[in-house]
Amino acid sequence: MPETTAAPVAGTATPTDPMIALRGLTKAFDGQDRPAVDHLDLDVPRGEIVVLVGPSGCGKTTTLKMINRIIEPTSGEVFIDGQPTSARPAHELRRDLGYVIQQVGLFPHKTIAQNIATVPRLLGWDRDRIRARTAELLERVDLEPELASRYPSELSGGQRQRVGVARALAADPPVLLMDEPYGAVDPLVRGRLQDQLLELQRELGKTIVFVTHDIDEAIKLGDRIAILNVGGVLEQYAPPAEILREPANDFVRSFLGAERALKQLSLQAVGDAELVRGPVVAADESATAARSVAQAEGVDWVGVLDGERLRGWLWTDDLEDGRRVGDHATRDFRVMVDHATSLRGALDAIVTSRNQVAVVVDDDRYRGMLFIEDVARRLTLSGGGRANRRATPAVSEDRA
Ligand SMILES: Nc1ncnc2c1ncn2[C@@H]1O[C@H](COP(=O)(O)OP(=O)(O)O)[C@@H](O)[C@H]1O
Ligand SMILES: [Mg+2]
Repeated sequence: MPETTAAPVAGTATPTDPMIALRGLTKAFDGQDRPAVDHLDLDVPRGEIVVLVGPSGCGKTTTLKMINRIIEPTSGEVFIDGQPTSARPAHELRRDLGYVIQQVGLFPHKTIAQNIATVPRLLGWDRDRIRARTAELLERVDLEPELASRYPSELSGGQRQRVGVARALAADPPVLLMDEPYGAVDPLVRGRLQDQLLELQRELGKTIVFVTHDIDEAIKLGDRIAILNVGGVLEQYAPPAEILREPANDFVRSFLGAERALKQLSLQAVGDAELVRGPVVAADESATAARSVAQAEGVDWVGVLDGERLRGWLWTDDLEDGRRVGDHATRDFRVMVDHATSLRGALDAIVTSRNQVAVVVDDDRYRGMLFIEDVARRLTLSGGGRANRRATPAVSEDRA
């Protein structure tokens, strides 16, 4: 029997079983000529972020609402931890499933603290426990403790969205369902909220089903991405790197858009890329030694190291014979990136500064150099072969 049609057996959940399993999940609304979701099979692994992504109207919200039974399926089943959700009262089920939506849905006449405490109050927690939990959650989502006594209208959109996440986490549910939670905030705030979600996820290890129509958001957040087509048809389900490398069909390819190669770069950290040592010499080396290092690399400049720390760089023409490299004044590298920066971020920094090379550091420690040619090779623009690293850390007018 194909794996996707096998229903998990209740009561035998082990850590390798999916946390959420959709089996033949179907919703046909009255008066619609085709189902909104049609026989959807999907496994959501424990502790992962699975992103449902697809064009408007493809059934993302309907799928999410069938998981927490805001919408009852026409046919098919949802299993949470191996148990069919239809076997439990819906209100009890929802305690295990935190829910975050774009409109946030905070109660306007309740304070932030009261909003966050909604579920714990329903569960009959005592006042001290609720107060402690509220304080803890505000801190987790990076909100000042003073905000506890404010009202939703006194907060920014981004802050309200954080409160929505805190409220969903209040009773520590194992699962979070998030429906375009960052769709209404500006791109800068959205980026920060996404980073925060990833950090929360590293700490809490929830199982998260995240809905978006934004493929970049899906690539950034998802351990796996489910690409849906109209009618809730699953076109591809795989980790982002695999989807970018091997789109299953034309629909996926066109949904990924024109910048597939650049998007792949966004998944790789600079520190994981092949960095080169570069033309660097210790400050106590002689001018002659520095020149030969530069020559061997085919460039006319060197970087100067103090132990593991990079001091700067200089043109070899400016080196005076008989003096040590460290006796000369150095220039600062224009592009210094942390080793955790994505290759896309590093490429952007290099191009924006009209430079050719980025220095990669880990705190104060020199890790190596990333030449624009090496990034280009990863994009397979230059078709392999040894990269030409004649680039300099300067922009053209620096020489003049
Ligand atoms: N309550 C409803 N009654 C009738 N049709 C609905 C209802 N909710 C959603 N639909 C239809 O189901 C399809 C999927 O909607 P939805 O799940 O909201 O898509 P998405 O979240 O991907 O944009 C759409 O064609 C939508 O018009
Ligand atoms: Mg929707």
